[in-house]
Order: sequence, then structure tokens, then C-alpha cells
Amino acid sequence: MSTNCENQIRLNFPDKGSMPALGFGTYAPGESEEDVYKAVQVAIKAGYRHLDCAAIYRNERAVGQAIKKTIVEDKVTREDLFVVSKLWNTCHKPDLVRTSLKKSMEDLGLQYLDLYLIHWPIGLKEGGDFIPKDEKGNVLFSDVDFVETWKVMEDCVDEGLVKYIGLSNFNSEQIKRVLDVARIKPVVNQVECHIYLSQEKLIEFCNTHGIIVTAYSPFASPGHKKMPYAPCMQDPTIIEIAKSKGKKPSQVILRFLLQRDIAVVAKSVTSDRIIENFQVFDFELNDEEMKKILALNKNHRTNTEDIALSHKYYPFSIEF
Ligand SMILES: NC(=O)c1ccc[n+]([C@@H]2O[C@H](COP(=O)([O-])OP(=O)(O)OC[C@H]3O[C@@H](n4cnc5c(N)ncnc54)[C@H](OP(=O)(O)O)[C@@H]3O)[C@@H](O)[C@H]2O)c1
Repeated sequence: MSTNCENQIRLNFPDKGSMPALGFGTYAPGESEEDVYKAVQVAIKAGYRHLDCAAIYRNERAVGQAIKKTIVEDKVTREDLFVVSKLWNTCHKPDLVRTSLKKSMEDLGLQYLDLYLIHWPIGLKEGGDFIPKDEKGNVLFSDVDFVETWKVMEDCVDEGLVKYIGLSNFNSEQIKRVLDVARIKPVVNQVECHIYLSQEKLIEFCNTHGIIVTAYSPFASPGHKKMPYAPCMQDPTIIEIAKSKGKKPSQVILRFLLQRDIAVVAKSVTSDRIIENFQVFDFELNDEEMKKILALNKNHRTNTEDIALSHKYYPFSIEF
């Protein structure tokens, strides 16, 4: 772990290069493109250099316009940014991978991406909607093996379209299958991770194989209908530690994740929160505080992707 001049933590990839540990999440269902456009500008001005995007978020054009405006108006260059996008589930067929990546690049207005992830191990029927369904409303699956998808992801690195490639929502067995064939290894596995889902075993597995884990939904998606516990930011342990540090509960939660040597993508469209969430490089949690927060784990997952429960590559049927 090393820090740059802005005190942002950077995580090193095994061979060469690194990524800023704290990223800005752009999944904002229910927010307008205008709100996302504004939020990304606030985020870059606040210091975020890692932007987490995806085709399924349906707002990559707005993110791209914000990047372009910030590069023109501020002292930020394309090379300062680490831009991530994700291959959607309906595009796992090898002949769709390159076109999907190029579409994200075009929407984002970029000549290359820093990191491209297979969003989920589960393929959905190619060609139509993002969530293809039959006339009865059943979601339609594709049986493309993600190992075949991976081979074209590697070609995209060779062609200079993307610098690094990785995975998202893959379990340890699925990661292993990719590693067994990989000419170019995945550098990241992005998964849900927060105080109620500590992911200790998966993180250890990934670290052993030189893969950085990126935590998504670091606040466990506040207000999610599947949350049976107090919202993370209202947890008494978190509140007590935050008070003792003179920090906000949200900042303690993000700092806790960063101190586990993982990356984190935090989303907000509220300017004050965007700024506040980046102010996590000026304090530390001690071992006792880290242990107390780790003990809050309940193995509780909010993003269970129930539409794919019967898919042969459904990732959450095994322990990790
Ligand atoms: N790979 C995947 O499958 C996957 C899945 C889900 C998410 N992600 C990525 O992870 C990112 C974050 O996940 P997420 O959006 O699901 O959940 P999250 O980060 O756990 O929660 C976001 C929510 O927290 C609120 N919030 C943020 N900062 C706050 C603060 N300081 N105080 C109080 N509330 C605060 C936001 O509200 P406001 O916006 O109203 O301020 C927003 O509603 C996404 O944007 C996306 O980039 C990836």
C-alpha cells in the first residue's frame, strides 16, 4: 500500500501499475443523467481519480461528458484517471465482447479504459434487453462459459483497448477456472463488501492469487428492502468509534474497508457526501477498532441477484 501526493491510497498490481483505492460509484438508478453528470464533476474536483462505471448503469455518456468537462476545465489529465467499466451479462458471447467494450469507450468518450470487468459470471440471452425475458416474464439465460469470454477480454488488452481486465461477483471456484486458462490474469474481483458482509475468506483467496478485491455497496445500499439490520451508519459500534475520532460514521466505514487493503467504490449524488466520503485519508483505525468492526459481520448480502438463482453459474451458492 502506498500513498500519492493527495494522500489517496494506491493498491499495486502484481506485475506493474496500481489503482487508486477509493473510487466513485456511478450506479444511480432513479437519478437523472444531469445529476450523475454533476456528481462526477464534484467527485473529480474532490479528489476521486477512480471512476466505477458499467454499461448496465445506462449513464456512461453522462459520466463521459463530466470527465471531458473536468479535463478541459481543471488540472486533471486522462492519465490521472482510472476508469473502470463492465461487460454486461447479455454480451458474454466472444463475438460481442469487443463491441461492448468499444460501446462503453465511445459513450465515455475515451480512447482506452483502465480496467474492464466481466460484471457477473452469469450470461443472459444475447441480443435484446439488458434483462431479456420470455412472454411469461421468465429471465432468459445464455450458457456461454465465462472462460470463453475471458479469452477475448485478453485480446482486448493486446489491442490496447484496455490496460487491465478483471471480474465482478465471481466466487473462488469461478476465479480459479479463469486463472487456470488465463494468459493475462484478472487484477480485480469486485464484490459486495461492507460491515455486515466482511468477505474474509474470499479476500484471502484473492490476495493469495494477486487479485485486488474492490468492495461495492460499502454502505450496504441504505434503504435496501432486504436489510434486516440497522443501516450501517446507525450501527452503535460505528457511531461510537466515529465520535471518538471526530469523524462521520460513513468515513469510519470507508476507512475500515481501505485499511483491509481493498479498494472501495462509494456512490453519492449529494455534493457534501461526495466530498465527505473522500476525507478518509487523515485518520486511522487501530487494531482494536478494526477487530470490533470486523466482528459486526453477519454474512448478509443485499445484492443476491435472485433473477439468476437457477443459472448454472450463479455465484452465491457456495461459501465464498
Ligand atoms: N459490480 C456490481 O455488481 C455492483 C453492484 C452494485 C454496486 N456497484 C458499484 O458500487 C457503487 C456503490 O454501491 P451502491 O450504490 O449499491 O451502494 P452504497 O455505496 O452502499 O450506498 C449508496 C447510498 O448511500 C448513500 N450515501 C453515500 N454516502 C453517504 C453519506 N456520507 N452519508 C449518508 N448516506 C450516504 C447514497 O445516497 P445519495 O446518493 O442520495 O447521497 C446512496 O443512496 C455503485 O455506484 C457501483 O459503482 C457494483
